[in-house]
Amino acid sequence: MRTGVWLVGARGSVATTSIVGGLALRAGLAGPTGCVTELPELRGPALPAFADLVFGGHDVVTTPLAKRAEALAAAGVLPGRLVAALPDELAAVEDELRPAPTGATQAVRAVAAARDLIGFRDRHELDRLVVVNVSATEPPAHPHPGHADPAALRAALAGPQEVLPASSLYAYAALEAGCPYVDFTPSTGARLPALHALAVERGLPYAGHDGKTGETLVKSVLAPMFAMRHLRVRSWSGLNLLGGGDGANLVDPGANAAKVESKQRVLGETLGYVPQGETRIDFVEELGDFKTAWDLITFSGFLDTRMRMEFTWHGCDSALAAPLVLDLARLTAAAHAAGEVGPLTELGFFFKDPLGSPSHSLTEQWVRLVTFTRSLHAGQESADGHAD
Ligand SMILES: NC(=O)c1ccc[n+]([C@@H]2O[C@H](COP(=O)([O-])OP(=O)(O)OC[C@H]3O[C@@H](n4cnc5c(N)ncnc54)[C@H](O)[C@@H]3O)[C@@H](O)[C@H]2O)c1
Repeated sequence: MRTGVWLVGARGSVATTSIVGGLALRAGLAGPTGCVTELPELRGPALPAFADLVFGGHDVVTTPLAKRAEALAAAGVLPGRLVAALPDELAAVEDELRPAPTGATQAVRAVAAARDLIGFRDRHELDRLVVVNVSATEPPAHPHPGHADPAALRAALAGPQEVLPASSLYAYAALEAGCPYVDFTPSTGARLPALHALAVERGLPYAGHDGKTGETLVKSVLAPMFAMRHLRVRSWSGLNLLGGGDGANLVDPGANAAKVESKQRVLGETLGYVPQGETRIDFVEELGDFKTAWDLITFSGFLDTRMRMEFTWHGCDSALAAPLVLDLARLTAAAHAAGEVGPLTELGFFFKDPLGSPSHSLTEQWVRLVTFTRSLHAGQESADGHAD
């Protein structure tokens, strides 16, 4: 299944690492460590092969992809030997990167974005095209009556107002072009009634929100442990220090608030109460793409005995995120092929703020993901059997 992966924010750290990683896997230059779809529980015939992935995308900046890859290699995020080994492949992706659409109204910009997607799908004769948002985190969207349903949205977009944040305008363009949409960021994306209705109308799935790669990943394992042992978490405080483009963007109070809210949800929803303490995100340019999170948890046990635990996470954000972007593209393409429509709640395993997911526990999310993926493989095997 020839599958396009269209990255919004295609010249950013996560996108560049995903592209170099995908090309390296395709060329057999690297193994799939970190790609959960290559685990025995998830591997199977419904997923497009790495060799079948074709990359393109939009960005507002024009820094050449090869330069971004070299900078990430110099920073220790990517192996330099991979970037050096893939100049032609990176040049081919560069040819498929487009500037973020411009135009007097959001309707004009959405048509231009959809045209870019359709052109890419046609040029490469793709069976599927998945749009993945890995662009800068936005502040929460301002409510607008046009968010209510597709007809109101179309009418509003044709006017002079900014009706949708950029992530939602890309989601709208993706759905109008017949492409499933995945949001790896905490931005609004497809989380509006009008866009949900449009996805259903077009028979398309969508997934999100906000890739779970570091502190929240650890929280989603530890919080269920405290809950299952009936230990009372009294406070949970976290300080995240990060540099890179994401860190610089999170200096903006609106974007920072959106990210912190997304990170906090796991505790309240897993424990059934919100312990004291806050999660903070601070920008430290020097750290680049390497993030440090310090967490202090205080809890009480039998007879109210007080205890504490601390952990420190030193992660390379883009190296943690990129394999998940490839996993999400493969799984969403397979879900689309299987006729799945609307929010893919079974992909909650990948996200800090999963769409409609009943659980934030990583273990429970894993079981749902395995069951779902096995059903996709079974459907594919039966379709292959009928074709024989
Ligand atoms: N790295 C992780 O572990 C992780 C985890 C969860 C979520 N995320 C999210 O992934 C996103 C990308 O992270 P990053 O480290 O690659 O950031 P980055 O700053 O390196 O890249 C973001 C890219 O988006 C582009 N962009 C901004 N506005 C755009 C627009 N309107 N249209 C098209 N492109 C636009 C920027 O020019 C930039 O190239 C962030 O929102 C981040 O919060 C990352």
